Amino acid sequence: MTKHYNIAVLAGDGIGPEVMAEAVKVLTAVADKCGFSVNLNTALVGGAAIDASGEPLPAATLALCKTSDAILFGSVGGPKWTGLAPDQQPERGSLLPLRKTFDLFCNLRPGHIYPEFADLSPLHPRISSKGMNILCVRELTGGIYFGEKGRTSTDAFDTQRYSITEIERIARVAFEAAIKRNNKVTSIDKANVLQTSVLWRETVQRVAQHYPSVTLEHMYIDNAAMQLIRSPQQFDVLLCDNLFGDILSDEIAAIAGSLGLLPSASLNGSGFGLYEPAGGSAPDIAGKGIANPIAQILSAALMLRFSFGQEQAAQLIEQAVQQCLSQRIVTPDIEPNSSYNTVAVGDAVVAAIHNLS
Ligand code: NAI
Ligand code: MG
Repeated sequence: MTKHYNIAVLAGDGIGPEVMAEAVKVLTAVADKCGFSVNLNTALVGGAAIDASGEPLPAATLALCKTSDAILFGSVGGPKWTGLAPDQQPERGSLLPLRKTFDLFCNLRPGHIYPEFADLSPLHPRISSKGMNILCVRELTGGIYFGEKGRTSTDAFDTQRYSITEIERIARVAFEAAIKRNNKVTSIDKANVLQTSVLWRETVQRVAQHYPSVTLEHMYIDNAAMQLIRSPQQFDVLLCDNLFGDILSDEIAAIAGSLGLLPSASLNGSGFGLYEPAGGSAPDIAGKGIANPIAQILSAALMLRFSFGQEQAAQLIEQAVQQCLSQRIVTPDIEPNSSYNTVAVGDAVVAAIHNLS
């Protein structure tokens, strides 16, 4: 029987709708080719939703998400809405409630240096020419950002607390991902000074026993920040708590070199996820038709892999993207003199999907 997936498509603001149109084209093409069907339902979110209804996450949009198998999210925000109260801002007012409603405790960010585009990376060519292929797995709903906090006139405090259950569930995601990749997990902590890190390390070690084929390594956060710059090739899956993952995922993005190429996924325990580019709504280039659609397209590939288990279809998209990159069919953020625009890159990915076996 043909598998059928309901996808909530929330394009948002700025370049969101421009890059989303290309991701939708690619999804439709790959579904045809791989023999499953996608039902794509669009809804307003962010600034576009504020303009239409006064709310960054209207009830109808949330209701659509609840009846869908996954959310494909564009980007939200822009100068037009920066004056609003924090909870009414496009970003905080939509992404935070979505994370909370669906308990999206796990954030995944793959980061690549593609050898043919090693020059995009700010690393020394001696290092970047060897490439990089990292999956950063970040705990997203616990830790210091959500712990008890307080402030008096003379001091302030934040607390970090992690339960074994919270650590176990994020660790399992990292190990499951590693067995489909290169069988290595590097767990990041500061176990020489933090109690939560001691528990983190013990718990990760226990989870690792269920994955004998995966090599587990522990690394202090300060060393990891340094090693990422000195030899990023040594890493496969990085397993991080919320705070360390926030920092390292941005470091990985900087090392990879272009926001326009970086997808992300936020998942819960039942395979439901929200998939979005790592970058924002890019108001500086919105409406010009030159935004890079690859991050949005690769976000759709992550959705096929992590929410639907359609590994072959995910790889097909990734190979098609790789092919366009190696033929230098890219937008001007990658190659300043490029004459390819958003639609041309999307078309080229679709054509490559048709041609790949
Ligand atoms: P940004 O990521 O939108 O832009 C930073 C730079 O990267 C800009 O020069 C932009 O042109 C470029 N860039 C980003 N994505 C690109 C793409 N696909 N193709 C080509 N170039 C690309 O970050 P910025 O400027 O800090 O924020 C702009 C707006 O986006 C703000 O309103 C911010 O709140 C919002 N934002 C939304 C996010 C989300 O929806 N998850 C995440 C980050 C920012
Ligand atoms: Mg960050």
